[in-house]
Amino acid sequence: MRIKQISSYLADNQNINDQMNQCTAPCLCLQDVLFSFSNVVDLMHPSFNKHHAYVAYIAYRIADMYGCNKIDIQNIVLAALLHDIGAFSQRERLSLLEFEGDDTKDDSHAEIGYKLLRNFPPLATAATYIRFHHQYWQPTKFKQTKQANHVLAPIGSYIIHLADRIAVLIRQEENILSQIPRIKSRIAEHHNVFMPELVAAFQEVAEKEEFWLNIVYESLNSILKDEIGLKSILINKDQIDSLTELFRRIIDFRSAFTSMHSNGVAAIASILAKIADFAPEDIHMIRLAGYMHDLGKIGIGLEILEKPEPLVPHEDSVMRAHPYHTDRILRPLPYFDTMRIWAAQHHECLNGKGYPFHTHGDMLSLGSRIIAEADVFTALFEDRPYRKGMPIQDVLTIMQQMVDDKRLDPEIYSWISCNVEEISHECFVIQQASKLEYRSFFSNAKQ
Ligand SMILES: [Fe+2]
Ligand SMILES: [Fe+2]
Ligand SMILES: [Fe+2]
Repeated sequence: MRIKQISSYLADNQNINDQMNQCTAPCLCLQDVLFSFSNVVDLMHPSFNKHHAYVAYIAYRIADMYGCNKIDIQNIVLAALLHDIGAFSQRERLSLLEFEGDDTKDDSHAEIGYKLLRNFPPLATAATYIRFHHQYWQPTKFKQTKQANHVLAPIGSYIIHLADRIAVLIRQEENILSQIPRIKSRIAEHHNVFMPELVAAFQEVAEKEEFWLNIVYESLNSILKDEIGLKSILINKDQIDSLTELFRRIIDFRSAFTSMHSNGVAAIASILAKIADFAPEDIHMIRLAGYMHDLGKIGIGLEILEKPEPLVPHEDSVMRAHPYHTDRILRPLPYFDTMRIWAAQHHECLNGKGYPFHTHGDMLSLGSRIIAEADVFTALFEDRPYRKGMPIQDVLTIMQQMVDDKRLDPEIYSWISCNVEEISHECFVIQQASKLEYRSFFSNAKQ
């Protein structure tokens, strides 16, 4: 087995940091964004406690011990940070925490995750690792009959699979070091499940208490950044557009009810920004804010998102946190601070009774007010689990009431009411296009 030392990665980091400092175009550390994103994904249930971060760290240590090169390790870590994003409900995610039997389980979330990510070049390799991250080293009879042609998965998939199964064996309530013998023997028992060389690499890493103690006591993102130089994954302005597009699909495609929402908000906000005489780059930015505004909903399960009855207080509290999490996920993008604020303030009100920041009056910029108004318009116009999309006259009546209550900006509302035909037509066109996009994505993804 080829053993690569962690320290050999450190030399490259100085060049990478120099590049980052010289970078005049907007750039960001993709790892930081994905790390905060994955932490929000794991808020869906207390049992998920940083699961994606655990898997990324464990996968990194196994890959390093096995002798993967730096690029492979970076892709493995990125894939691990996102590996279960195709599982949308709490129920489905909870079922993935059970250690045994995953060869017979529905692993369509792996295919959905792959299809969501594959068209974004910096994550294309990671997407292929995610696609096979539940594949057994030696598939059981069940899988052999299901897949006529068993193909060997990429090594990254086998590493993530092993790391994922180790992570689910860790019990939060127990001392981490006293769990080592149990976890090692459970992994060793499943010789058909995991690639033997990877199990050997794990057994070697598992000898070190430091490996386990880091999981509990260290900032895993800092370890990954310091030791493997993931800060080198910079993306340029065009790729940032593709990244926002990717996030939009991840959020909207979680439910048929939300499949058109962010697209609708982005389109309506762009029309309003044009009326407000925004510069072209700011119109572009407000479109991105529309795509990203509900990003924080990634931590909310379908059980709440699609609930047909009114939310109970606990569920309402979960829902009210989502703009806060949008803000947290977008913080590693300093170039887009303005866009982040517009996106994160979409549930704030002029009278200060919005949430979660209670920003009010003049503290709310025109961009934030536009996104808020575009969000209300789009939400009322589209179907929800508990009602059909409203006729345009009802939408305007409700929005007028919100203006009277000093929740929405009267001037922006007047732009909507004066241009209601154009705006509702645009909303309708976007809804139809988004429905088609959603249907075609799932008809391919579940085949
Ligand atoms: Fe999974
Ligand atoms: Fe997982
Ligand atoms: Fe929202």
